[in-house]
Amino acid sequence: MTSERPAVHPGWLPPEAFAALGARRALVCGAGLLVQTVRDELAAAAARYGGKVTAGAAAAGPAGPAGAAGAGAPELVLALAGAGPLPGPAAAVLAGHDPAADALGDEGFLLARRAGVTVVLADRPAGLLYGLFHLVRLGPAAFGPDRALERHRPVLRHRMLDHWDNVAVHPVMGQVERGYAGGSIFWRDGGPRRDFERVRAYGRLLAACGVNAVAVNNVNVHATEARLLTDRLGDVADLADRLRPYGIRVHLSVSFAAPVMLGGLPTADPCDEAVRDWWAAATRRVYERIPDFGGYVVKADSEGQPGPFRYGRSHADGANVLAEALAPHGGVVHWRAFVYNHRQDWRDRSTDRARAAFDHFAPLDGRFRDNVILQVKHGPIDFQPREPVSPVIAAMPGTRLAVELQATQEYTGQQRHVCYLGPWWSEILRFAPWGPGGSTVADVAAGTAYEGRPALPGTVGGGGGGLVAVSNAGDDPFWTGHPLAQANLYAFGRLAWDPGLDPLAVLDEWIDLTFTPSTTRDPRLVRRILHEVLDDSWRTYERYTAPLGVGFMVRPGHHYGPDVDGYEYTPWGTYHFADRDGVGVDRTRATGTRFTGQYPPPWSHTYESVQTCPDELLLFFHHVPYRHVLRSGVTVIQHIYDSHFAGVEQVVAMRDRWRRLARLIDARLHARVSQRLDEQLRCAQEWRDQVNAYFYRKSGVPDAHGRRIP
Ligand code: GCU
Repeated sequence: MTSERPAVHPGWLPPEAFAALGARRALVCGAGLLVQTVRDELAAAAARYGGKVTAGAAAAGPAGPAGAAGAGAPELVLALAGAGPLPGPAAAVLAGHDPAADALGDEGFLLARRAGVTVVLADRPAGLLYGLFHLVRLGPAAFGPDRALERHRPVLRHRMLDHWDNVAVHPVMGQVERGYAGGSIFWRDGGPRRDFERVRAYGRLLAACGVNAVAVNNVNVHATEARLLTDRLGDVADLADRLRPYGIRVHLSVSFAAPVMLGGLPTADPCDEAVRDWWAAATRRVYERIPDFGGYVVKADSEGQPGPFRYGRSHADGANVLAEALAPHGGVVHWRAFVYNHRQDWRDRSTDRARAAFDHFAPLDGRFRDNVILQVKHGPIDFQPREPVSPVIAAMPGTRLAVELQATQEYTGQQRHVCYLGPWWSEILRFAPWGPGGSTVADVAAGTAYEGRPALPGTVGGGGGGLVAVSNAGDDPFWTGHPLAQANLYAFGRLAWDPGLDPLAVLDEWIDLTFTPSTTRDPRLVRRILHEVLDDSWRTYERYTAPLGVGFMVRPGHHYGPDVDGYEYTPWGTYHFADRDGVGVDRTRATGTRFTGQYPPPWSHTYESVQTCPDELLLFFHHVPYRHVLRSGVTVIQHIYDSHFAGVEQVVAMRDRWRRLARLIDARLHARVSQRLDEQLRCAQEWRDQVNAYFYRKSGVPDAHGRRIP
């Protein structure tokens, strides 16, 4: 036994990823905390790979000579545009850019290579930092032939990770609610964890994929966590100090009942003057301590959390009182739209959980203050492996919306199963809620969905709410429990920066950074096998779990593994309604819950008809007989059998492929993944057998291919 802590895996920033940069003579021009981070990163790489880093004019003082790089001119220049005078190639790049026509903003940068010098220019320090990590991704390619001027800017301004981390260990949910990567990076046993090196390393990884905001505690705010807003604020400030050098703002989940819980007021009514004053004063104190504090995250009137309903007030009233307190300081409130009746009677067929967010929030469109961001889960239910896009996303032109994804794999294998979510997220972000060719979900998150249309009253201009994901990282040595789940964290950041990226190209980036080609004997084989294991893994997971978009069928409570009827007679609103004749939820206007009517055309029509509804969502929208023929040509029951047999076979193939990587990559990582693949196969077989047996017993229809169904 050894008490030594295992070394923390470097994720997508192993030292080797900096080899190309570290071998160059670099000049960094500009001043400020983030410019210093850039300089420190380059200096560390240079110390390892023999390069040299010089400070340019602004950092050297006003009289400092630009480009005085000692022996030899710089091969790499990273400069703030205003830090001049800039060395020749950088000045030439700057001259070719028209800031009036094409502003870089706070986080954008220019990249070019001229006369053998690679140049990154930015208006603001954060742009320089993102430029640096872009060069890391490019590696040696950043120093090849000359490159024409490229402009890079994030498509989404808010790129946030929510941590469902508790400060005090929760008796049921533990240290991290729905966490599958060990404990929390931030908290342990009721207090701060104080492993600030780890926090900083986390911030560095996040900056390298583009994340710029982190909410440090669970949306379910319990007694201890509520106090992060007041007497435990110092713990939040400590985290902010470590994340700031990487351009990451800290956000806090707060309780709507804070004025009562912490302030001793008799009410938390948002229309009460004393409550208003309390929020304003509490928020002022937060900014005194953390001047760049990002804002609040609120889960109100949801799964038992307090909210404005108790006082007969609307969610606009509730959100606005916090927004008003944050506004003078530049903060935002992320107000979650996850409001539904979690105590419904399963006998009541008229209540449909899928409808709830739209029913509650769409009528409030245009009533939220500018600094309210309504945070909407991507689907109408709850992070299932397949759901339609939430109709709320197309329903609120006068509100800033953020789309919420789940990187932590609550419903997608809990980081014991390989499930690369990039393709799923990309599909969601590219979905066009008003029909093919129109604005996309990403456009809504970017705040550009309504551009070029006749202005609607209250339409929000610019500044959408961005993209949020529930983080999958913890204090696990591999950060994410399953080492391959790191790819999800990386892909989230990259897709938030640019939702148009190809998720498989993003995977390539992640593979090349994490399994640096120079460190393995056969980089092509490594890349190929990782693609074979990961590319289609989300669809594989979908195949062996709940069929055709019907969702759930997981074990109640912890949500791991199959239990077809586990939620069928519960108050949670997640039913499949299988009987001897058929399965699925009738959400049509004609005969069902009328949920299809929450979509604009063409989707309201597409989903309404069994003829046009996409197969993968059929059982989400329709209750159909087992012998109903899908658009694919097979019956529903045969599809259930086929997909479940195929899904398990694919896991077997994954495991075989993974074995071929032994001795080509880090042994510890290889062993960890191998163990998890064994568990994935066991669990996938369990899913296959339970789902197939269940539907065979219900329907009495045998498998057309005579395979064994227990
Ligand atoms: C899911 C999850 C909860 C979480 C909730 C939320 O229902 O199971 O643990 O609190 O989502 O998003 O608030």
